[in-house]
Amino acid sequence: MIPPETTSKETTTDMSTERRQSDRTEAAAEAKESSAQDAKGHGVNIEALNAYYGDQLAVKNFNIAFPANEVTALIGPSGSGKSTVVRCINRMHEEIPGARAEGSVALDGMNVYEDGVDVTSVRRLIGMVFQKPNPFPTMSVFDNVAAGLRLTGARGINLRERVHRALRAVGLWDEVKNRLDKPGTGLSGGQQQRLCIARTVAVEPEVILMDEPCSALDPVATLKIEELIDELKDRYTIVIVTHNMQQAGRVADSTAFMLEGELIEHGPTTKIFTNPNDERTERYVTGKFG
Ligand SMILES: Nc1ncnc2c1ncn2[C@@H]1O[C@H](COP(=O)(O)OP(=O)(O)OP(=O)(O)O)[C@@H](O)[C@H]1O
Ligand SMILES: [Mg+2]
Repeated sequence: MIPPETTSKETTTDMSTERRQSDRTEAAAEAKESSAQDAKGHGVNIEALNAYYGDQLAVKNFNIAFPANEVTALIGPSGSGKSTVVRCINRMHEEIPGARAEGSVALDGMNVYEDGVDVTSVRRLIGMVFQKPNPFPTMSVFDNVAAGLRLTGARGINLRERVHRALRAVGLWDEVKNRLDKPGTGLSGGQQQRLCIARTVAVEPEVILMDEPCSALDPVATLKIEELIDELKDRYTIVIVTHNMQQAGRVADSTAFMLEGELIEHGPTTKIFTNPNDERTERYVTGKFG
């Protein structure tokens, strides 16, 4: 989870150098310990997932493991079922009228499709970032980030501190600290996308799903998001859908190739791009179709 904000300890004039030194050592030890704890991420295992829109089977007998603290890219031609898969992971697929899913999506052994599982808590644990930055139009920068916390009914927390911490975590703090009460929609596209990521990380999820998070952004804003993804994987398990092969190459530890609702191949990103097992993967990654 998000490590505690590193606030400098109160320094008093009578505090000896020795004491300050020992405080620093303690703080460093604490930070180390907390980052070691944070590194214990939560993997996701999908087994025998079928996803339907009415009678149409859009995702077919899909099996995959998304390892903890890794970035997995989902690639494949348009309509191959990438968005459907990610929406099944946090049970958003079933919100579409006529859509349903069967199979198992296990977060650390807990099947999110089990009877009695609370959908709201599934969505808190498995956050989602969309293609188009979607800040709430009537809300300020601050309220946009606080919204997730308020929606999930987080109680007994210091809202202000959590919002500030999330904005720092996505590298947006310096850019927005003087306009926290201004509309979120007044930010640039790249800033809006980082704001949406801040909204997602503020609730301290375990998994972050990103469906083409950079497709509406320019190369500079894209690079910032990619750097951020690289930092976030220390704390979260990340699944990213992308059409951009270079992006998958830059951010993903492993890459999964989908075609017509099926998983064709999943392996280390370099292998998928240089020496895939399946000829269809090879044709896709070399731009011969899709
Ligand atoms: N809301 C919907 N209602 C009916 N069918 C849908 C719906 N959304 C997707 N589908 C169908 O499900 C299949 C998989 O679609 P999906 O959106 O998951 O593909 P994708 O790989 O994300 O494509 P893209 O790269 O274009 O975003 C397609 O045949 C699509 O037409
Ligand atoms: Mg899609």
